[in-house]
Amino acid sequence: MNAVNIEKLIFSWAGQQPTLDIPAWQIKQGETVLLRGPSGSGKSTLLSLLAGINTPQSGHLHLFDTAFSSLSGRQRDRYRADNIGYIFQQFNLLPYLSALDNALLACQFSKKRQQRIAKQGSSAENTAIEMLQRLGLSSEQIQQAAHTLSVGQQQRVAAARALLGAPKLLIADEPTSALDAEHRDTFIQLLLELSSQNNTTVIFVTHDAALSPYFDKHVELNELNQAGAKP
Ligand SMILES: Nc1ncnc2c1ncn2[C@@H]1O[C@H](COP(=O)(O)OP(=O)(O)OP(=O)(O)O)[C@@H](O)[C@H]1O
Ligand SMILES: [Mg+2]
Repeated sequence: MNAVNIEKLIFSWAGQQPTLDIPAWQIKQGETVLLRGPSGSGKSTLLSLLAGINTPQSGHLHLFDTAFSSLSGRQRDRYRADNIGYIFQQFNLLPYLSALDNALLACQFSKKRQQRIAKQGSSAENTAIEMLQRLGLSSEQIQQAAHTLSVGQQQRVAAARALLGAPKLLIADEPTSALDAEHRDTFIQLLLELSSQNNTTVIFVTHDAALSPYFDKHVELNELNQAGAKP
């Protein structure tokens, strides 16, 4: 099955020429894809369409067996909550909530995520604690307010939040840009290990060429995107 199937997708920000014009693009279920492209080429815009935060003006966007771009706004919100983990360029943690409560946020809005955790015989809280510990946070740090954590620690909390409850699709927008080489490698290895345990499809945006070996596929946005191909 395809995790992502795009046909003739066009997206323009209000009053602008199209940012994205993608004739076709497929990603297979379980694949890990590194998406690259110059600053301003539309990577974050494409991710926002894949997450249903924005919708294309024309064309088709299928996620798994769902005609995602034909859903109502409410249905898309529901689908995202249940099936998509998103790690933002700026992690979007709630600063005064603890690391643990931040990690639990996505699950609170999705019965499906809670059910998937229950099936594995654990509680959301215990699964979150275990995941945060595997990502290298201490028991104390797990209880600390997010704003008191280092950038690298906050990023791992954002990863735990995105992955908790086994989403079908993980979307990550440059989550390693603030990390040194050693932390970056550990982080990406764990992220991909946790994803592969759940057969989660991964789309990961980065400028960092050193991350290439970790991914099944490498995609240059400008090769997909005819709007970007103009001189
Ligand atoms: N909310 C928005 N409203 C209007 N235009 C936007 C908005 N977000 C992005 N754009 C425009 O869309 C184009 C693509 O931006 P986008 O953020 O998708 O690029 P990017 O490839 O993610 O860049 P970077 O590598 O710097 O993160 C840019 O020209 C930008 O100005
Ligand atoms: Mg971006």
